[in-house]
Amino acid sequence: MKIIESIQDMQTLAADFRRSGKKIGLVPTMGFLHEGHASLMREGRKRSDLLVTSIFVNPTQFGAGEDFETYPRDLDRDTKVAAAAGVDVIFLPKASAMYPRSYQTYVNVEKITLPLCGANRPGHFRGVSTVVCKLFNIVMPDVALFGKKDFQQLAVIRQMVADLNMSVEIIGMPIVREADGLAMSSRNAYLSARERIEALCLSEAIRSARAAYGKGTTQVEALREVVRASLDKAPSAVIDYVEFRNSTTLEEVTSAGDSTLLALAVKIGKTRLIDNTLLGEE
Ligand code: PAJ
Repeated sequence: MKIIESIQDMQTLAADFRRSGKKIGLVPTMGFLHEGHASLMREGRKRSDLLVTSIFVNPTQFGAGEDFETYPRDLDRDTKVAAAAGVDVIFLPKASAMYPRSYQTYVNVEKITLPLCGANRPGHFRGVSTVVCKLFNIVMPDVALFGKKDFQQLAVIRQMVADLNMSVEIIGMPIVREADGLAMSSRNAYLSARERIEALCLSEAIRSARAAYGKGTTQVEALREVVRASLDKAPSAVIDYVEFRNSTTLEEVTSAGDSTLLALAVKIGKTRLIDNTLLGEE
């Protein structure tokens, strides 16, 4: 496995591979890799000849007062996780190379970035779509893999790729959870032992909403109450949002169906966690 820091070296390698008719796969990450990331890499391995993962804590997607400076980093461990998952190249650019002083171009996906995480994190998705567009131009992937853990992010990337006619196939991968149900996230590292237990309220709330839906509750207000009641059991949980949306357009629904997205963002202490499910999904 190679580590490439230079944008130009990465672009040259990618261009050579493409010219020889080989398929390039990309898994973009911000590092501090866990089994969720590894599942994307293993699937990418099957779908490509050259599998690249980028590790870049992207400054433009963090708002003022967010955790850019403290975002967890561990390159030694990341290298081992990526190698074990079959990655060929870790692309590790410097922020000063990705965003030189003269930088002034951003990609802004409009409507679907407004609700959910976009509402409380203004500018976040503009940073995500911009950096993913740049990574696509540098790594030139035929296929790129993203997790459904960040459901809205995946929808934003699909919208960007469609709107800008990018020739890359986007694969959405299932949420990988800890044995007790907590969705894996690099940010779980922020949780104290007590908060780690309280963080289970997200997956439990999802489980109770799915159970209620399974028994025939379809009115969103009733399902929202089920979710709230579960979250209220965790004393330090502060709800950011509990939303029921059309999983394609992300528009609000009042009555739930099998492909209705239930998306949650909850703060446990200082840590903001997200989770989601499609109500009728296996
Ligand atoms: P990061 O949070 O490191 O996540 C990288 C990829 O791993 C994303 O596609 C995310 O959805 C996926 N992922 C994270 N946790 C997962 C889990 N438990 N199960 C399945 N997939 C999971 O998302 C980002 O980085 C950044 O916004 C990025 C796309 C790299 C742009 O900077």
